[in-house]
Amino acid sequence: MPFADHQIRRVLLFMPGDSFKKITKGASLGVDSIIMDLEDGVALNRKPEARRTVTQALTSGEIDFGATERLVRVNQPRKGMQAEDIAATIVGRPDGYVLPKVESARDIQLISHALLERELLLGMEPGMIKLLAIIETARGVVNLREIAAADQRLVALIFGAEDLVGDIGAVRSRSGAEVFYARSAVVIHAAAFGLQAIDTPFIDLDDVEGLRVETTEAMHMGYTGKLAIHPRQVAPIVDVFTPTADEIAAAQKLIAAHEEHQASGEGAFAYEGKMIDMPMIRAAERVIARARTAGII
Ligand code: COA
Ligand code: MG
Repeated sequence: MPFADHQIRRVLLFMPGDSFKKITKGASLGVDSIIMDLEDGVALNRKPEARRTVTQALTSGEIDFGATERLVRVNQPRKGMQAEDIAATIVGRPDGYVLPKVESARDIQLISHALLERELLLGMEPGMIKLLAIIETARGVVNLREIAAADQRLVALIFGAEDLVGDIGAVRSRSGAEVFYARSAVVIHAAAFGLQAIDTPFIDLDDVEGLRVETTEAMHMGYTGKLAIHPRQVAPIVDVFTPTADEIAAAQKLIAAHEEHQASGEGAFAYEGKMIDMPMIRAAERVIARARTAGII
């Protein structure tokens, strides 16, 4: 299924919304998206300051975001802060909002409706502002189907392991077995509804090898991108979601062989000792799509 929008989101870098310095730095790194946080990365008594800082970052022209997508994470629903978060930051016309702890279609639809009014007031094209939903509670996982189909603005599902572990009373392990069902469910629902799937951040900032392993696993599962929480994590993540020259060449060769066999009326065929049919061709096409996304072909 084609994705709902064309924005490339291999790496999305989070930073606390009350840090103008980190927003400036994040904007300078050439990442696909930055997420200026108003939720858990900001202390309760700093929320007003964070809203002001994010708005200043978006409106003052002091920061050149280049092609980087500008996202704002609002506070969780049911805490009464989302309306203020949006009212304060919408004038900056962010590209989208990231919604944490989404548990129902309604959590998304309420925000979408509020955004429509604001867009009309600001003379923006209705529906321009995108939404990305974080699934990080048991209810969020259970209601994935209605969440994934909730609204046209929704472009991605993000998996959040740390909050989920807290919510279900699990213990975080190196293997990630405790979150495997949820991590799979998020990527499957995203694929079924044409949404991007973005994996949880890796919290050990010094373990680059661990980050690489977890990101590769996410990519193999079908995830299209991963959250980052430190500039050091950006390159390894982009690297994993960008196919190598050899992978691209192999995929192109396979697709060419497939086209030849199709022309001579054969569906399945043997290629380098393996049976090839449509699922493998689709996988090769995904490699090509990732290469195009990365701008290397
Ligand atoms: N975005 C942009 N810049 C960042 C950054 C981030 N997430 N994390 C660190 N930096 C910058 C620092 O400001 C510093 O810049 P400088 O060299 O110009 O002074 C540089 O990168 C090196 O940072 P470092 O000293 O290694 O990290 P730190 O101790 O300052 O910060 C964290 C560590 C974890 C607090 C920080 O990485 C962070 O804020 N991460 C995001 C947290 C967040 O948003 N959480 C909510 C979502 S899960
Ligand atoms: Mg969280």
